[in-house]
Amino acid sequence: MPKGRIFEESLIFLQESGIVLEENFKDSRKLIIPVPHFQMEFILAKPADVPTYVEYGVADVGVVGKDVLLEEDRDVYELLDLEIGRCRMVVAGLAQYQPAVQPRVATKYPTIASRYFREQGQQVEVIKLNGSVELAPLIGLAERIVDIVSTGQTLRENGLVEIEHICDITTRLIANRSSYRMKSEAVEDIAQKFLQVIPKAEVLR
Ligand code: PRP
Repeated sequence: MPKGRIFEESLIFLQESGIVLEENFKDSRKLIIPVPHFQMEFILAKPADVPTYVEYGVADVGVVGKDVLLEEDRDVYELLDLEIGRCRMVVAGLAQYQPAVQPRVATKYPTIASRYFREQGQQVEVIKLNGSVELAPLIGLAERIVDIVSTGQTLRENGLVEIEHICDITTRLIANRSSYRMKSEAVEDIAQKFLQVIPKAEVLR
């Protein structure tokens, strides 16, 4: 599970499906939370690392945003679109943005941004940041940013506007390729649990 927003949002669904975590896990710094009743363990990882743990098989399944999947490009199976954490990947900038001669784009998603502008036939310099990318146009580091937008509040409060829509993003259930075959029953059981409590979830595989 990714630490942060997706985990918070998933907790209610986990509870509804009977997966009850230790009561004090929120106050603790423990990274592995046992769920003895289901003979499983939750590994709490940085969101960007979830596909890595799953690709290497140290986690059989994972919950992760499509933004991370597109950026990390790991060899994993996408089982379900959980339809939670919906947001969009956009190009944004100042309302009075003028295309520069040597345009620069700041982002936490250099792979997605480079691919997008290449497909658009635009030459840009992509600058990798680790967060608060909305700062970049405000202080002159880059004219545009590529980032996820959910409520739009961060853009609005910083005087930025959406310029182009790249893609929609939702949370996915992913599986390790061999776990998918060798532990098919257990993997299927987890997928079914999500499907039961999230009626809008969509089967991808
Ligand atoms: C994400 C994203 C935007 C913001 C969008 O950042 O990078 O900054 O949320 O949400 P909104 O449209 O609802 O305002 P996050 O909070 O993960 O922090 P970060 O910028 O430090 O990565």
